[in-house]
Amino acid sequence: MENEVTLQKELELYLEEENLDKEKIKTLLEEKLPKLSQSKFYEFTRLMAYYRCAMMEIETKLNVLDIEFGLQHDRNPISDIKTRLKSLQSIREKIKRQNLPFTLSNVEENLHDIAGVRVVCSFPEDVYTIANALLKQDDIELVVMKDYIKKPKKNGYRSLHMIITVPIFLAHEKKRMKVEVQLRTIAMDVWATLEHQLRYKKNKQFTKEVAEELLYCASLSAELDKRMDSLRELTTE
Ligand code: GTP
Ligand code: MG
Repeated sequence: MENEVTLQKELELYLEEENLDKEKIKTLLEEKLPKLSQSKFYEFTRLMAYYRCAMMEIETKLNVLDIEFGLQHDRNPISDIKTRLKSLQSIREKIKRQNLPFTLSNVEENLHDIAGVRVVCSFPEDVYTIANALLKQDDIELVVMKDYIKKPKKNGYRSLHMIITVPIFLAHEKKRMKVEVQLRTIAMDVWATLEHQLRYKKNKQFTKEVAEELLYCASLSAELDKRMDSLRELTTE
């Protein structure tokens, strides 16, 4: 019973993060939940809690690296860390796009970005310093790395993407969870954030001209990174 209460709380928290208002959450829990398979819903909630724990582990590791680097070099390589759990709706849609039934094992095996950590670094060099320091840790395993900084996407997008696994230590078991880590500079983050906003603007066409202008802006952002990195080198003894 106590276990169920905790899970119920966890579920409420998760639904709140999806921006559902309190009333909606209440009806969902009181009316819909008993009709859905309660145990299935709780299992899903448990899995989401595990992803949240893995995300916290990674965030702490990153903060530790940032503090240590700061002590050594008198500046911080990490400017911001953002974390997010994929919403239930996005998870359902992604599983559907892959033509798979919505089961827990399908979610765990086929989605790699349920737990997402975005690390915004000061300089391009910091992206690689932080990524390598994280990968060197003996409890971290790399699943796949995509370097869109060395090889940007056609639209100009730059970032270093890694899917890694990290163990979380539960009372009676150790479970490896996947986390998607995106590392980028402040300049790359500005471009990606604005590009995302423009791409998903309702009732507005994403024309060829807009795409071309964005590609040009991406080259400006890459140039800015390059010049700032030269300044960093000049001011580093
Ligand atoms: P999904 O898009 O998650 O299905 O993954 P994928 O296998 O295509 O991976 P990829 O590494 O290309 O992209 C994963 C994530 O990176 C996306 O969900 C976005 O957060 C980010 N991303 C990738 N491409 C772009 C882009 O062109 N613009 C912006 N703003 N973000 C991007
Ligand atoms: Mg994704």
